[in-house]
Amino acid sequence: MTNQQILSRPRRNRKTDSIREMIRETWLHPSDLILPLFVVEGQNLKIEIESMPDCYRLSPDLIVEEAKSAQQLGIPAVALFPALSDLQKDHLATESTNPNGLLQRTVRLLKSSVPAITVVTDVAMDPYSIDGHDGLVENGRILNDPTLEILAKMALSQAEAGSDIIAPSDMMDGRVGYIRKELDKRDFSDVSILSYSAKYASAFYGPFRDALDSAPKEGDKKTYQMDPANRVEALREVFADVNEGADLVMVKPALAYLDIISDVKASVNLPVVAYSVSGEYAMIKSAAQMGWLDETATMMETLIAIKRSGADLILTYFAKSVAELLSV
Ligand code: PBG
Repeated sequence: MTNQQILSRPRRNRKTDSIREMIRETWLHPSDLILPLFVVEGQNLKIEIESMPDCYRLSPDLIVEEAKSAQQLGIPAVALFPALSDLQKDHLATESTNPNGLLQRTVRLLKSSVPAITVVTDVAMDPYSIDGHDGLVENGRILNDPTLEILAKMALSQAEAGSDIIAPSDMMDGRVGYIRKELDKRDFSDVSILSYSAKYASAFYGPFRDALDSAPKEGDKKTYQMDPANRVEALREVFADVNEGADLVMVKPALAYLDIISDVKASVNLPVVAYSVSGEYAMIKSAAQMGWLDETATMMETLIAIKRSGADLILTYFAKSVAELLSV
């Protein structure tokens, strides 16, 4: 059979590895990644998290080791989440402002032992709250404005410990502006704010809540986290945070929200961060353990898709595996 008169043959651009590489539109680099880490009190402690295979709650000394190896792999930042015992939790998240609290000590240790790594700390009440909510609970309601004061104190305490980037993940209205003002008043105008701007009320956070034992005791988070059905509303949240002084904005989760990442990237002139959350990680890990998915290929495909949709930076529990793969 003779060749047909086909003028456009896209397959020519796919014919070899090197040509595919030449025309590749999206690249992942270790510098795109932020590694989330769970901190637990103790020494030389590494505690498994059942629903997140190969992820651990680590004592501060091991957090330092993990941050060092991340940094050597070219990962610029870690995001810290403290796992506290119920005894340290109360209705007001009091422990979150303890200058010698687990998180504050870990930040100080990290900044003195691995000064080159950027430290991101989360601002929300849930790891410290006996109610397991991101805001203050009163008669089953989550109070917005009284929560702001608590969040700002938490942010100040983290800044004092040396955190480089404060990341409010609570979804209270007005929190970015409130925190920004309080930080500036205390001479922390250099501390950045990465806002969890479009954070959805997602079932994909399940394994994370196991890791921190931070699931809400009553109700759900739907009065503050966004409805997964909404797209336009994400921009309302993002613009509010931009106007209130956010330096980076986040969409969370990532994989089921690529349209949102794409919209946000097209609408703001700030770096866009995507959080590929615990459930996204657990899905790939568990299917791979069953032998049903190729872990490495699925990991790379999902992360490149998140980047392709518009994310400049990605929080992922796969950060070290990806960076290792990219370094060979
Ligand atoms: C809490 C917080 C959550 C995550 C990050 N910060 C959970 C939640 O909102 O319930 C989830 C991260 C993940 O699932 O990987 N403010």
